[in-house]
Amino acid sequence: MVKKNILHIGEQTKAVHAGERPDSATKASAPNIVMSTTFVVDSETGFSVEGMDENDAWVYTRWGNPTIRQLEEKLAALEEAETAVAFASGMGAIVALLFHLLKSGDHAIISDVAYAALSEITNELIPELGIEITKVNTSDTEAVSAAIRDNTKLIYVETPCNPILRLTDIGAVALIAHKAGAKLAVDSTFATPVATKPLQLGADFVVHSLTKYLGGHGDALGGVLLGNKSELVPLRKKTSIRLGGTISPFNAWLIIRGLATLPLRMRVHQENALKIAAYLEQHPKVGRVIYPGLKSHPQHELAERQMKNFSGIVTFQVKNREDVRKIADKLQIIHYAVSLGHHRSLIFYLNSKDLLQTSFKFAASEQYDSWNAFAGEGIFRLSAGLENAEDLIADLEQALDN
Ligand SMILES: Cc1ncc(COP(=O)(O)O)c(C=O)c1O
Repeated sequence: MVKKNILHIGEQTKAVHAGERPDSATKASAPNIVMSTTFVVDSETGFSVEGMDENDAWVYTRWGNPTIRQLEEKLAALEEAETAVAFASGMGAIVALLFHLLKSGDHAIISDVAYAALSEITNELIPELGIEITKVNTSDTEAVSAAIRDNTKLIYVETPCNPILRLTDIGAVALIAHKAGAKLAVDSTFATPVATKPLQLGADFVVHSLTKYLGGHGDALGGVLLGNKSELVPLRKKTSIRLGGTISPFNAWLIIRGLATLPLRMRVHQENALKIAAYLEQHPKVGRVIYPGLKSHPQHELAERQMKNFSGIVTFQVKNREDVRKIADKLQIIHYAVSLGHHRSLIFYLNSKDLLQTSFKFAASEQYDSWNAFAGEGIFRLSAGLENAEDLIADLEQALDN
């Protein structure tokens, strides 16, 4: 239990202690999992969340729950945010944010390359609600400025972006957003609060898929929005409580446990990813290797400025596309599976052409060319886990030398 000045203690201490307190009845040191969906209340308690206050007694788990609250407090401490609202998944958090900020007639600028499900809902579902969307390469600040309209309410960026690890200068885009009276939201899933704190750089909202590094063990879906109380208190009522999408207290508990080792894990993810990236860069069968920690990354200077840790994802091409299947099949330690940020290493091959036509739906050929110039056609996205780096490299070596 840390009673005072939680914002001024070290990151690893926060990861272990923030949000947690011994159970008042049993004095248990580890957090309880409170699975109850309902709580015994006094007869004065109302049925609407309208007048609800954050400090009110627990009523119903969709309104709030002690285990979920502990998770939210730990996340807010790590991100140095005023407050946090947890969701059942990263997509749950993203959709809640879009519902909170946008209404028919509004315009939003979204990264032209972003997590596939966000790309897909902003191609169809969101425009169907009368909200205009412009997809922009947000690493190009001039393109972001040029896309601003009178009705722009939101700029949404992912940095590093999934799957090509292109970066966006958060501070520069925050200035553009605020000059236009719009909000900036940053999906910082790939960076984690250990690497980057977007709120300190001027962002209004941070989004994480807790399913990835923050949970860290591939056993719980979750998502979170972080920012100021003035936005997130009403957002909780309007979206989380009324639309549902509440995280299970059991998942919240698993993620609390995962978070306790986040700074330690990120150190090893980065160390392993750097060694793997350096190994892949010199392999004759490998083409382009993209990793923000490599000097060859086109935005390495921005990475050094904006990321205290380069995280654990390495994106690379193999020169001969015929080899892709064999490599995937031969891996023995690294799991061929979607997702990332787990203690287990994961790899997945993304066929750029398919993604460009389905998720990203690039209309203009310049966007297609801009992707190809940055990432090329056909990429493996490798999430370096916490195994010994030499074992991961040996696994890649035997798979590449097929
Ligand atoms: C960058 C990023 N944001 C959001 C999500 C969505 O998270 P979830 O799968 O928890 O809904 C993902 C999932 O891969 C992601 O990579």
